Amino acid sequence: MKAIVYEKYGPPDVLQLKEVEKPTPKDDEVLVKVHAASANAKDWRLLRADPFLVRLMGGGLLKPKNKILGSDIAGRVEAVGRNVKQFQPGDEVFGDTADCGLGGFAEYVCARENALALKPASMTFEEAAAVPLAAVSALQGLRDKGQIQPGQKVLINGASGGVGTFAVQIAKSFGAEVTGVCSTRNLDMVRSIGADQVIDYTQEDFTKSGQRYDLILAVNGYHPISDYKRALSPKGIYVMVGGSMAQMFQAMLLGPWISMTGSKKMGILSAKANKKDLAFIKELLEAGKVVPVIDRRYTLSEVADALRYLEEGHAQGKVVITLEE
Ligand SMILES: NC(=O)c1ccc[n+]([C@@H]2O[C@H](COP(=O)([O-])OP(=O)(O)OC[C@H]3O[C@@H](n4cnc5c(N)ncnc54)[C@H](OP(=O)(O)O)[C@@H]3O)[C@@H](O)[C@H]2O)c1
Repeated sequence: MKAIVYEKYGPPDVLQLKEVEKPTPKDDEVLVKVHAASANAKDWRLLRADPFLVRLMGGGLLKPKNKILGSDIAGRVEAVGRNVKQFQPGDEVFGDTADCGLGGFAEYVCARENALALKPASMTFEEAAAVPLAAVSALQGLRDKGQIQPGQKVLINGASGGVGTFAVQIAKSFGAEVTGVCSTRNLDMVRSIGADQVIDYTQEDFTKSGQRYDLILAVNGYHPISDYKRALSPKGIYVMVGGSMAQMFQAMLLGPWISMTGSKKMGILSAKANKKDLAFIKELLEAGKVVPVIDRRYTLSEVADALRYLEEGHAQGKVVITLEE
């Protein structure tokens, strides 16, 4: 089968389109013919081993352990291992292969059945592939870490990217009043997916407006943690999802201290692929409460270009890889 392979860490130039052996499903695995995959920041971080911690956290110390990237997939089940109960050949599925060694940037991938769900019938493979990692991260950030409640004032910083576009819609589905922070060219898009208010970060610094939020999800950009703290209501919660490394280290090192010594809670999200959460998102998709925003589509041989584009940090929604003929 054809796959995009990386033998060493580096920029997207190290990715090669190769002919490799088609995987065989283990007893608890499903073999999926991939029709579409989507790219996430995690893919280029693993590709570059950036931050270095990637190598120590199972990525492979000197060279990559898993040679094919790609977490999110959607496709058709081709074969199942003998212990698989939930799927059969022909089923259309989607999911996040993060806990099964990745491998979505290929014609076929094996995944444990718990990593997959039946694809909503009304969605295309491309739409379904855009969902799992970004939507489940947004859900876990808002609901689990952020304890979102109806009527709360919720601010999403970085509302126009992969995670942000899901976060805006999921926060609305919980009945929150949502403010999305993005740049000028994305204001209309973020409004169109349900944000009640939008703030153009090129014109206004929301941390200096005097407005207070019950929950802030920091998905992209950078503000010192003290600025985020000021923008929280007295019992507000701040969840760091992504953005600059400085933002991440401040949340990791100072967040626990701020949370222990005051009424505001500040912490960092570590999202995990999870079947129950994928099922929760599937219901929102089927109810039309969440619709993936797809920015660009690339073919399998163009994965390097897709990651180069994503790495620039200005995708408007999700970047999808199409494998269908
Ligand atoms: N903690 C976890 O478990 C977890 C899970 C998933 C993802 N993440 C992390 O979350 C981050 C975002 O992921 P993603 O998929 O949403 O990335 P993405 O799609 O690449 O984000 C791109 C978006 O970020 C916006 N952006 C760039 N600079 C900004 C700024 N200064 N202020 C506000 N928005 C800005 C861009 O809008 P403009 O073009 O308008 O600037 C663009 O729409 C990544 O760092 C990723 O590693 C973490």
